[in-house]
Amino acid sequence: MRIGFFDSGVGGTTVLYDALKMLPREDYIYYADTLNVPYGPKPKEEVKKYVFNAVEFLIEQQVKAIVIACNTATSVAIEDLRNKYDIPIIGMEPAVKPAVEKTINLNRRVLVTATALTLKEEKLQNLIAKLESEHIVDLLPLAGLVQFAEKLEFSPQTVLPYLEEQLLKYDLNNYETIVLGCTHFSFYRDMFKELLPSYTHIIDGNLGTVKNLKNTLERIGAINEGSGDIIYYQSGCKVEDTVKSNTYNKLFKRLDEINK
Ligand code: DGL
Repeated sequence: MRIGFFDSGVGGTTVLYDALKMLPREDYIYYADTLNVPYGPKPKEEVKKYVFNAVEFLIEQQVKAIVIACNTATSVAIEDLRNKYDIPIIGMEPAVKPAVEKTINLNRRVLVTATALTLKEEKLQNLIAKLESEHIVDLLPLAGLVQFAEKLEFSPQTVLPYLEEQLLKYDLNNYETIVLGCTHFSFYRDMFKELLPSYTHIIDGNLGTVKNLKNTLERIGAINEGSGDIIYYQSGCKVEDTVKSNTYNKLFKRLDEINK
């Protein structure tokens, strides 16, 4: 049986990339909700409906576990999904806990970047309130990076000026840690690095999510002997080979570039 990966668009492939490294003998379905991306600026109830449709679709394909490779979808729907379905559902949330732990006694700050919807959701607000009372966490939505990633726009000439303009709202020297709390942002890790001081840690939840997936599969005895095969769907339609090579191969090439 396959593992289902889901995101509003291309962002979840940054998590799938790590899964292919850690679990190369698994087979996958990657579902992008291309018709409805971006989720970040939309109302919670609307996004929740899209997430349920996608999960329902993946369950119909008989996957053995689902990774919601999208912080926004996780923050609005994870509890309701787990209440409704028996299948293991692994979610993602901005890695605020490790970020605060790294930063708290250093007299420096944490910058959490994510979509507008993730940032205003109770789930994140409660997490921050629980972790720290000194108000060392700042929140920055970066909708432009979602748009760039969806257009497969990775050239520094285009993306860097946008990112620089957004980050320069803050005195960057104050930041010990920055959290990439949206899977689309991981495509731009090198550009964040270029703009931030060399001591700033850049963290995302990708590896933690894949470890979580691995532990879950081991626990339920569902480890596979497959070949890393991936079937792609976009909002319910199977993706043809031409789209596959034009889109997904380019995304993996970009990820190879960042991870080399
Ligand atoms: N990739 C998504 C996330 O991790 C959301 C992007 C969007 O659809 O706005 O939050």
